[in-house]
Amino acid sequence: MSGPSPQQQLDQMITGYWVSQAIYAAAKFGIADLLKDGPKSVGELAAATSTNADALHRLLRALASVGIFAEGEPRSYALTPLAEPLRSDVPGSKRALSLMSGEEQFQAWAEIEYSIRTGKVAFDKMFGKPIFDYLGEHPDKARVFDAAMVGIHGRESSAVLEVCDLSAIEVIADIGGGNGSQLIEILIKYPQMKGILFDLPHVVDRAASRLHAAGVRDRCELVPGSFFDAVPEGADAYILRHIIHDWDEEKCLTILGHCHRVMAADSKLLVIESVIPTGNDPFPGKFLDLVMLLIPGGKERAADEYRALFDKAGFELTKILPTSAEVSVLECRRK
Ligand SMILES: C[S@@+](CC[C@H](N)C(=O)[O-])C[C@H]1O[C@@H](n2cnc3c(N)ncnc32)[C@H](O)[C@@H]1O
Repeated sequence: MSGPSPQQQLDQMITGYWVSQAIYAAAKFGIADLLKDGPKSVGELAAATSTNADALHRLLRALASVGIFAEGEPRSYALTPLAEPLRSDVPGSKRALSLMSGEEQFQAWAEIEYSIRTGKVAFDKMFGKPIFDYLGEHPDKARVFDAAMVGIHGRESSAVLEVCDLSAIEVIADIGGGNGSQLIEILIKYPQMKGILFDLPHVVDRAASRLHAAGVRDRCELVPGSFFDAVPEGADAYILRHIIHDWDEEKCLTILGHCHRVMAADSKLLVIESVIPTGNDPFPGKFLDLVMLLIPGGKERAADEYRALFDKAGFELTKILPTSAEVSVLECRRK
C-alpha cells in the first residue's frame, strides 16, 4: 500500500494547527480529567464544562478520528492512550503544554511573518512586552508556564542524570530552575547534596511547595533574583537548563558572565540544551528554535555556536554529553 502523496502530506502539515487547537480546547475544558473514571456522555461532559453539547460532540469526534478520545456508545467518549496524558494528574502530563501552546503562543505564531521579516520577537509585538515580564504580571499564566516546562522538558531530568556523574558535587545551583523539576531529581539521587534554586521571585515562591512535596525542601535554598543582576555564590556546579536558548548573544553573555564571576576555578557549568545537528534530519530543536525566535527572542544553537559563545564568556566547553532525551549536557569550566 502506498503512503500519502506529497500533496496529502502537505495538506496535513498546513492544517496541523486544526489538530493542535482542537487538543487545546479539550485541554482547556479539562475533558480528560472528567473521563478518568470511565466513559461519559457528551451531555454529561457539556453540563460539567458549561459548553454546547453539539459543538463538544463535534470536537470530540474530530479528536477521536486522530486517536485522542474514542466514541463507544453513540455520543459517549472515553480516554485512549493518546488522551491519557491530557489528564492534569498524571506524571508527564501534557495538559499545561497544550494550554501554553494554544493561547498566547498560538497568537504569537500568527505573527511569524513579522519575525521572519525583521528577526524581531512576535510575542513582544502581540503583547507589548517580553514573555517573562508578561508572566510576572499574570500569575495564572505563569503557573501554566511552569507546569508546561515539566510537560515539555520533564523527561530530560532523569536523562541528564544518566550521563552526568555529579557525585563529587556538594552544592548545586539551578539558575532559572523554574519549579525545580531538574533540581528535585538531582537532590533525590544524591541525598548528601545541597541545592540552590534561583529564579524570578514569583517563580521561586511557587516552587517551594513542590520541593517540599518531593521531600528535598530542607536541602534546598530558594533564592529569588534576576540573572541579569547576579547569580548566587557558593555552589560547585551551576546548571542552566533551557536558559541560554531564551536569549540573544548579548544577554547570554551577561548571564554567563555572572556565573563566571561566582564560580571557582574547579566549579562546573552544565548547560542543558538541544544542540542543533547539521543536515536535514528531523530534530525537535529545529522547531523549538522557531519558538525561541517568536516567543522569548532566543535561539537554539549548534555545537560550534555554543563553543564560540562560551569562549567569549570565559568558559571552555570540555564535553558535550548527548542524552536519551532531545538535549545534550554541555559541560564547561572557567578558562
Ligand atoms: C524556559 S524556562 C526553563 C525552566 C527550567 N530551567 C527548565 O528547564 O524546566 C526559563 C526560566 O528562566 C526563568 N527566568 C526568566 N528570566 C529570568 C531572570 N531575569 N532571572 C532569573 N530567571 C529568569 C523563567 O522564570 C523560567 O523559569
